[in-house]
Amino acid sequence: MFRLDERLALCAEFVRDGARLADVGTDHAYLPVWLACNGKIKSAVACDVRPKPLENAKANIEKYHVGNIVSTALSDGLDEISPDLADDIVFAGMGGELIAKIIMRTQWLYHGDKRLILQPMSRADALRLFLCQNGFHIQQEKACISANKSYSVMLCTYDGITRTCTDIFKYIGLLENDDSFESKRYIHFINEKLKKQLNGFDKNSMEYQNLYEIVSKLDTLSEGVIL
Ligand SMILES: C[S@@+](CC[C@H](N)C(=O)[O-])C[C@H]1O[C@@H](n2cnc3c(N)ncnc32)[C@H](O)[C@@H]1O
Repeated sequence: MFRLDERLALCAEFVRDGARLADVGTDHAYLPVWLACNGKIKSAVACDVRPKPLENAKANIEKYHVGNIVSTALSDGLDEISPDLADDIVFAGMGGELIAKIIMRTQWLYHGDKRLILQPMSRADALRLFLCQNGFHIQQEKACISANKSYSVMLCTYDGITRTCTDIFKYIGLLENDDSFESKRYIHFINEKLKKQLNGFDKNSMEYQNLYEIVSKLDTLSEGVIL
């Protein structure tokens, strides 16, 4: 058996025991294959928009003898996937804006029984904003470090309630209340990016003032982090 890296292991942690899984943008299908090998899921559909990654997925499904549990689907997002196939849906390793676009057009995700496990590679802020404005509740969020990079994974469900998304929430979500080293390190790296943006603004502008306040708050929240 193989080990999942910390990023995919954190996604796996949020998948319910016995779930029917859809893994969107699966590529190598490591996540569904690992979950199947470990007896954690009832079934999985490993989806990708490109045929080549799906070939990698099929090879791993065969290699680890989990073809009775994991199937593959060529699909743009969840366009070709029936709602009956999945309760827990993972989007890992894709940009936050792309994840938001796919969720937006997939009506069957707007249902309280479906659980979304989201690991954006970029623009997590845009994704959190979309979730808040479109009735998705971020129930849990955790950070991890994999190959020296920081990632956040969110567990969300739809409850139809639109929420105010403060600037701080947009950038760090529930990690604001998480004292772990991984969380502080994630906040630190988000803040480093914001500091670079700050340098591009005129110091007398509103944008500079707003961003300066956010950066100061994130400095406090990530205080003491050892890199
Ligand atoms: C970087 S890989 C991530 C693989 C794996 N999920 C992980 O996190 O390690 C991103 C994958 O998403 C797929 N992808 C990109 N856009 C997609 C879309 N609209 N629908 C489904 N898959 C997509 C790509 O083909 C690629 O295989």
